[in-house]
Amino acid sequence: MKTGKIISTGSYYPEKILTNADLEKTVETTDEWITERTGIKERRISAETQCASDLACEAAKSALKNSGISADELDMIIVATVTGDMQLPSTACVLQDKLGASNAVAFDINAACSGFIFSLSVANSFIKAGSHKNILVVGVECLSKFTDWEDRTTCVLFGDGAGAVIIQPSDDESGILSTDIHSDGKYAELLCVPAGGSKMPPSEDTLKNRDHYIKMRGNEVFKIAVKTLENLVTDTLKKNNVDPSQLSLLIPHQANMRIIQATAARLNLPMDRVFVNIEKYGNTSAASVAIALDEAVRTGRIKRGDHVLLEAFGAGLTWASALIKW
Ligand code: ACO
Repeated sequence: MKTGKIISTGSYYPEKILTNADLEKTVETTDEWITERTGIKERRISAETQCASDLACEAAKSALKNSGISADELDMIIVATVTGDMQLPSTACVLQDKLGASNAVAFDINAACSGFIFSLSVANSFIKAGSHKNILVVGVECLSKFTDWEDRTTCVLFGDGAGAVIIQPSDDESGILSTDIHSDGKYAELLCVPAGGSKMPPSEDTLKNRDHYIKMRGNEVFKIAVKTLENLVTDTLKKNNVDPSQLSLLIPHQANMRIIQATAARLNLPMDRVFVNIEKYGNTSAASVAIALDEAVRTGRIKRGDHVLLEAFGAGLTWASALIKW
């Protein structure tokens, strides 16, 4: 049974930059508050004409180019997103068409910020089963289109972007060593978009009440995230007999600098072994870890043989990790 190996990465973020100073002009907030509480300085915002599959397509093309395989060699496409193009069909099917990946099966996974690692885990199961050989996994979000730009408690946090990887069966000892995926639906209402689904279909009232936007009880999510991620990363390393000192790089979900620092502290990991780009992109949910992974690869932060740990936490609530030997 061969495990999966990430053979290439890619990412894309829209051109438009929205800074904390820009937000100071539209809601009652300050650069100081946003920087101190989150670590975010700016985020990318998709153009009016851009939707999730457009961002995903750019990231996927870049990963394909770096892999040396062509789109028609893909046999599976998994898109992790909570801000897909349409309620149906899946964004993965739209992406399949845009890429011309006519030999792939395509489907979406909704696990919010943990979605990319959930998708990596699902892809790896197909690779291990031996049924698929060239899988494209994309994490993409157009959160700006679901953000209430009048709500200062959420609008300062999110950004748009996409990250992609190609996974193939590994022929050596490198590859995905383990994945851990978890959820606890009792916390579903802490972070949700209440309207637009079958529970609360669109109506004049839902529009008036701004129920189509992201609602988050941030402080409650924060406390659960810190505790859960600390346990998750230690458990993942223990299960794989990898001491934190052997970890070359931690690539955390970029939701909040304080959560990232708390997780690193639990592992006694100096911050130079933690990948952080939250200041540039904010929280891009399912895209966050994928974008960070691509940036880490492109900037030479990951070398062959390195142990790299990915982790994320998001709506659901969901949380996930993946330990990779590069
Ligand atoms: N500017 C200025 N003041 C603000 C702002 C703002 N943008 N937002 C909130 N405040 C105020 C609040 O009103 C509150 O004021 P009060 O004390 O007078 O009531 C005060 O700041 C403190 O608010 P808290 O919510 O307690 O602030 P906290 O330190 O918890 O930071 C934050 C908020 C950044 C949202 C944090 O809780 C967080 O990061 N939570 C986790 C987010 C997360 O990880 N989500 C999961 C992934 S997202 C996904 O799945 C899509």
